[in-house]
Amino acid sequence: MQTKPVNLTEALATFDEVYSPRIVARVNDYDVRIAHTEGEHVWHVHDDTDEFFLVLDGRFDVALRDADGNETTVILRKGDTFVVPKGTEHKPSSPGGAILMFEPSGTPTTGDRHEGDIPEHVDSTIGRQLS
Ligand code: NI
Repeated sequence: MQTKPVNLTEALATFDEVYSPRIVARVNDYDVRIAHTEGEHVWHVHDDTDEFFLVLDGRFDVALRDADGNETTVILRKGDTFVVPKGTEHKPSSPGGAILMFEPSGTPTTGDRHEGDIPEHVDSTIGRQLS
């Protein structure tokens, strides 16, 4: 049993990579992950799960594409929360910031499908352990 709290500020200070989420907690079958954000992510979709975001610092934008191909960008600032519904194409971007995500363990950061090449600064992972 874990008997120490995990401090998110301290956890974020242990790594620098952007878009490379670290798992800070497991809740039943879900992961709580944190990540630094900067630059463009990649268009992708999670077919079977919603994805919850909480902005811890800075700004984090989520571009969404509906079934007709229309795009909308949701701008999120520190303290904002947002859920991308399952099956919705989305592409995060950020001028710099940090986020917390809540999603089923094993959910890949680049979705079940993605569009084009994965940028070098985007880690395709199901979440890494905090060191
Ligand atoms: Ni996603």
